[in-house]
Amino acid sequence: MPSAHPLITEFQRAGQAQVFAFFDELAPDAQAHLLAEAAEIDLAEIDRLNRTLVAQSGAAAGVNLSGLVPAPYEPLVGGDAVAWERAKRAGEEALRAGRVAAFTVAGGQGTRLGYDGPKGTFPVTPVLGKTLFQVFAEKLLAAGRRYGRPLHWFIMTSHQNHAATEAFFAEHNFFGCDAARVHFFRQGRMPAVDFSGKILLESKGSIALSPDGHGGSLRALDRSGALELMKREGIDTLSYFQVDNPLVRAIDPSFIGWHLLRGSEMSSKMVPKAYAEEKLGHFCAQNGRLVVVEYSDLPMPMQRETDASGQLRYRAGSIALHLLDREFIRRMARSDGSAVALPFHRADKKIPAIDAAGQPVKPAQANGVKFELFVFDALPFAQNPLVIETLRAGDFSPVKNAEGLDSPQTCRDDQRRQFARWLKAHGAALVTDATGLPAINLEVAPSFGYDEDSFAESWARQTVQPALVDGLVLV
Ligand code: UTP
Repeated sequence: MPSAHPLITEFQRAGQAQVFAFFDELAPDAQAHLLAEAAEIDLAEIDRLNRTLVAQSGAAAGVNLSGLVPAPYEPLVGGDAVAWERAKRAGEEALRAGRVAAFTVAGGQGTRLGYDGPKGTFPVTPVLGKTLFQVFAEKLLAAGRRYGRPLHWFIMTSHQNHAATEAFFAEHNFFGCDAARVHFFRQGRMPAVDFSGKILLESKGSIALSPDGHGGSLRALDRSGALELMKREGIDTLSYFQVDNPLVRAIDPSFIGWHLLRGSEMSSKMVPKAYAEEKLGHFCAQNGRLVVVEYSDLPMPMQRETDASGQLRYRAGSIALHLLDREFIRRMARSDGSAVALPFHRADKKIPAIDAAGQPVKPAQANGVKFELFVFDALPFAQNPLVIETLRAGDFSPVKNAEGLDSPQTCRDDQRRQFARWLKAHGAALVTDATGLPAINLEVAPSFGYDEDSFAESWARQTVQPALVDGLVLV
């Protein structure tokens, strides 16, 4: 009898023999495929996660809240206007020097939106229905022109959506961006396990693998060569944003300036939570370190606490906007398994899998565990980490759900409110309701304005005022 492949023996020794239960039934190319997937798995890591995350009951695995206090942040509303102006000038200088690149994490599965295709290809603007990727591309192009330095743009994809994402950009001629400055790379994958820690099979010839979370971006940036490219190009700062948020100030000179002037290795933006139950992570300090505590981990009585001014005490909500120093990313990326590594989180999910008889199971409730890394877990390891306030209306309106809160409809409305604010600030007689939503549908292309300043410059150059009619588009 031929001896088993060494990888199969390794899996057997690790108590994961079920991964190869149907190996002998597979055709040679399917066997090769399964072996290649198995080779991606770090069995020691899975064993450690099984012991620390899967075997623990919910309470034992809970977050340690001792010594937790709200994190300080740099206020924008009522803040030090001179210091904000100084930060903006420093950020503009860094942009003119070409020290900044953009980074979009687009490897998520977007299950809540239920859209077939990479989320970045979802149409999102109110009049023209431009896709998320097009909005970001045009913002980055416009910012590059403004500062005289075209920006590099890194886009993290997943195994599932990589080819479709690249094809989409090629099909649309990179929306006018220089293709040599747009860099796609895949994030890592992790296997899902059942509640006894056994790695699940999706089919007889493939393992149930899924993206390793947005925190996987740090190691993927390193592995893909992105950090080396940044170094060669003299880029030391990466502006991180999510693929689902077209309102984002993807390139924000004030944020960049604060980050650089404070010598921060990782900085984040906060918005005051709209209400206590709002599902945002909380910026907190713990034993002198900056941490983000997820909404599900901070007890509701703490989320409801107010301070002397009547505001929520834990009001600093995280909106997933960060600046990262290149060498900090490298340090974090290479710290796997050490005390300073990002921790994995456990998510109990319904995972399509096959059972021991090889029959597909469509679980009605969670049947296993996925492991994910979160990028904000890098904050406690950063030198001089910083949180600054931003205005939600000008930075954050994600498309998460098909309907209701954080949906395409709320996002389109928030874009219209933003465009209306910019126009009204320059005297346009737009009719808006109490929430600032204009009576007409309208859209401002990023080439005309991607923030207040760029909009003001274009507006001043106009010789004829636009007619304020439904479907107005400023390009
Ligand atoms: P979400 O937490 O909204 O997850 O990701 P999701 O997978 O996109 O959507 P759901 O939960 O399945 O509905 C926030 C951001 O992080 C990226 C997403 O693409 C999005 O930009 N992300 C998330 C990754 O790049 N990789 C991951 O493994 C997870």
